[in-house]
Amino acid sequence: MTTRVAFLSRHERFRSVPSTNDIVRNWLIAGTAEVCLAVSDEQTAGRGRSGRSWVAPSGAALLLSLGFRPDYLAADRLWRLAAVVSLAMADAAEEVAGLAIGKLRLKWPNDLVVEVGGGLRKIAGVLGETEGVGSADQLAVVGIGVNAGWPRADFPTELADSMTSLSEASGRPIDTDQLLEAFLLRLEPRVLALRDGHFDVAGWHDRQVTTGRLVRLEASGGDAEELRAVGVDGASGALLVEDPADPGTEREVLAGEVVHVRLAEVHGETASGSPASGRLDVTP
Ligand code: BTN
Repeated sequence: MTTRVAFLSRHERFRSVPSTNDIVRNWLIAGTAEVCLAVSDEQTAGRGRSGRSWVAPSGAALLLSLGFRPDYLAADRLWRLAAVVSLAMADAAEEVAGLAIGKLRLKWPNDLVVEVGGGLRKIAGVLGETEGVGSADQLAVVGIGVNAGWPRADFPTELADSMTSLSEASGRPIDTDQLLEAFLLRLEPRVLALRDGHFDVAGWHDRQVTTGRLVRLEASGGDAEELRAVGVDGASGALLVEDPADPGTEREVLAGEVVHVRLAEVHGETASGSPASGRLDVTP
């Protein structure tokens, strides 16, 4: 259905699958070239980061996964695949929803969020998974779920304060086919640039919502720290933080070290945070 996507080796649309990440992973393992794309109206076992599930009513979200064979990226740069997916989706979603440029922000590492009343509401999440990292045939799957035409009245109660959708943020109906088309058009040059050794560090930096703000970082064991986010590192993909009581002592946090990143000054902000383990976004 989608045209002008010469960089796609395979593209299939499904009505319902367990997880589009698994579809694409199986294609890669079977030898499919990059970039392959699976899109589904519904997932019955959608995965989020840190072992969380990812749910969306049929047709209310754009659910897709992309498969890569990134022999052009060093193992410690694989995080850039997830970053280009979120950046391309931010650009596409702003255009299709008629939102101002820059309205959608990245909450490190890859959540797409909007600021609402001083808090953050999540619109999209990204799950990166890898196999054979560092080998001659490393594989990467990047899945993204975008809350598209999902009315607030239908949000799950436990997520209603932390999530929103493009239709709620814009007041417009969202056509997921149009969003997919707009996304692919923006993703292609970003992937081609990665193959040429280029990554939009400035664009990635500018989208970050946490820079300059106090954040609460929660580790998988339950330990939490409140630190000031001072930026992101375009080489390692890390979040750069400093102790507010000891400015100037900057250190790096990799996504695998924390399961949640929240704005510390906003109580009740529960937009889900960063991944824990074994995932593409671990680095981050
Ligand atoms: C997160 O924020 O926790 C990441 C959510 C990723 C969800 C997407 S939907 C398409 C793809 N298939 C999955 O099972 N998960 C990702």
